[in-house]
Amino acid sequence: MSEENPIVNEILSKAKPGKQTFLGYEESRNVLKAIGIPFNKTKLANSEEEAVSISEEIGFPVVFKVVSPDISHKTEIGGVKVGIRTPEEAKAAYNSIMDSVKRHVPNARVEGIMVEEQISGSELFVGVTTDPQFGPMIAFGIGGIFVELYKDVTFRLIPIGVSDAYEMLQEIRGKRIYEGYRGRPRADPRELVKVLLAVSKFICDYPEVREMDINPLMVTHKGVMAIDARIIVDKSLEAKSPC
Ligand SMILES: Nc1ncnc2c1ncn2[C@@H]1O[C@H](COP(=O)(O)OP(=O)(O)O)[C@@H](O)[C@H]1O
Ligand SMILES: [Mg+2]
Repeated sequence: MSEENPIVNEILSKAKPGKQTFLGYEESRNVLKAIGIPFNKTKLANSEEEAVSISEEIGFPVVFKVVSPDISHKTEIGGVKVGIRTPEEAKAAYNSIMDSVKRHVPNARVEGIMVEEQISGSELFVGVTTDPQFGPMIAFGIGGIFVELYKDVTFRLIPIGVSDAYEMLQEIRGKRIYEGYRGRPRADPRELVKVLLAVSKFICDYPEVREMDINPLMVTHKGVMAIDARIIVDKSLEAKSPC
């Protein structure tokens, strides 16, 4: 394990040897923030009242998300509500998420509800998967909840360099989506390249990260920012840095 990032070291050290450890939404965010990936503003609420007051503090419209180490795909189980515009809607959304989680994952440990500013923009994704033969690969493509449907994605073996990253940006069919198509926000390619290189370096430093997803990585008029993250750690890969 690299010594260079104490926040990452601490979070990843919780992974147990001998099995894959899934880091929840909040921990994954904290790891990726610590390696320089920009994220949207969020605050964890522990009760309905707190969810309302944090929403007012952040400013409507807001998004609510369930935070649980036992839930990986939040939308699938009714764990995400977007477009919350009033305190009444906030109360309803809080209860609807809690009910839905109880129904779908009865034993889930729920740490709270993340209250987030609602971001508008185009959804990309950056991910890492580990091929048993070739090792870790970085993926870049069109993101969102239909990412598996679009399959608009390009891969490279890790590590990548600056020119690989620029090539990846050009390789996806939907690249016009983040090039300002029809008034949509235009991504600064340098910001996207920075994210790709940060992820590649992260895997070099922490090869025990078997899988990760930043989905969506949102292209907004104010820049590129991540609004969701998941990481899977596998200690048996620790000594296998590809770099
Ligand atoms: N803060 C946000 N602002 C705007 N849209 C959001 C926000 N958070 C989530 N969404 C929308 O909800 C979708 C699902 O949320 P996400 O956090 O990615 O959960 P999951 O992938 O676990 O279902 C996103 O792809 C995005 O379209
Ligand atoms: Mg997501």
